[in-house]
Amino acid sequence: MSAHRHFLTLMDLSSDEIRALIARAIELKAQHRAGTAPRSLEGKVLAMIFTKASTRTRVSFEAGIAQLGGSALFLSGQDTQLGRGEPIEDSARVISSMVDIVMIRTFAHADVEDFAAHSSVPVINGLTDDYHPCQILADLQTYFETRGDISGRKVCWLGDGNNVCHSWMNAARQLDFELVVACPEGYDPDPTLLEACGQHASIERDPSAAAEGAHLLVTDVWASMGQESEQAARAAVLAPYQLNRALLDRASSDALYMHCLPAHRGEEITAELIDAPDSVIWQEAENRLHAQKALMELLLTA
Ligand code: CP
Ligand code: NVA
Repeated sequence: MSAHRHFLTLMDLSSDEIRALIARAIELKAQHRAGTAPRSLEGKVLAMIFTKASTRTRVSFEAGIAQLGGSALFLSGQDTQLGRGEPIEDSARVISSMVDIVMIRTFAHADVEDFAAHSSVPVINGLTDDYHPCQILADLQTYFETRGDISGRKVCWLGDGNNVCHSWMNAARQLDFELVVACPEGYDPDPTLLEACGQHASIERDPSAAAEGAHLLVTDVWASMGQESEQAARAAVLAPYQLNRALLDRASSDALYMHCLPAHRGEEITAELIDAPDSVIWQEAENRLHAQKALMELLLTA
């Protein structure tokens, strides 16, 4: 139905568009600091639909569109008719007839695809069980502004082959770097996606070997939203994949490490690394704001 651009995975943008978006995000960040941010989305309204919890995604989208001159609506699943079973396609037709852009965080990726297919305005994936592309825009911005272009670098993912890992796999294809996924058997990323990545992504069971010479180490929680009941069983199997000083010492001497947050100190990452003075994890979180402002500009002015 819709001819609009959507952002459901990183594959919805070209490599050039991703690089241009990162450059714009860095520019918007500087302008925000200087108090010279543009009112580029004056009067635009963003609807944000959440059926999962969020701190960073909600605050960054809501603050971001306000800073560009627009406004946002927060719609929780249980307070809308969506939560009472109104079809996604009907909700998409109605909501998109009243706002300029929609962001959705939910469980099934197919639900976001369904919404986008029936939306007359751009739709952004704010996290599904399968992908978290907005997070990786901020992560890439953080790498680019700290170390330069990521092309040709080695990135090591540690832990569960989850939604954030899948978006890093797409980033490896798009920006031409090597992603080594260190995970135990049973926690592999999607095999179809792995195959599509070709030489850009591989699985390594030994975390030390995976971290060897890496320019960036990335991890995430061991139990994602919706998997809380598996927390203890997952922790037992994933413990050897903790992001800690010993693994960082195997990486390149200028290696960065990232975590999308929220984190569990002492589980998937040590407190020492999260709280280190040179950690870029807080910069990474703040960059959600700037990267998504650039994303909304791109989708609304394309
Ligand atoms: N990283 C991230 O998406 O955080 P929230 O769940 O707080 O939005
Ligand atoms: N993998 C995590 C990311 C949270 C931002 C989850 O889906 O819960």
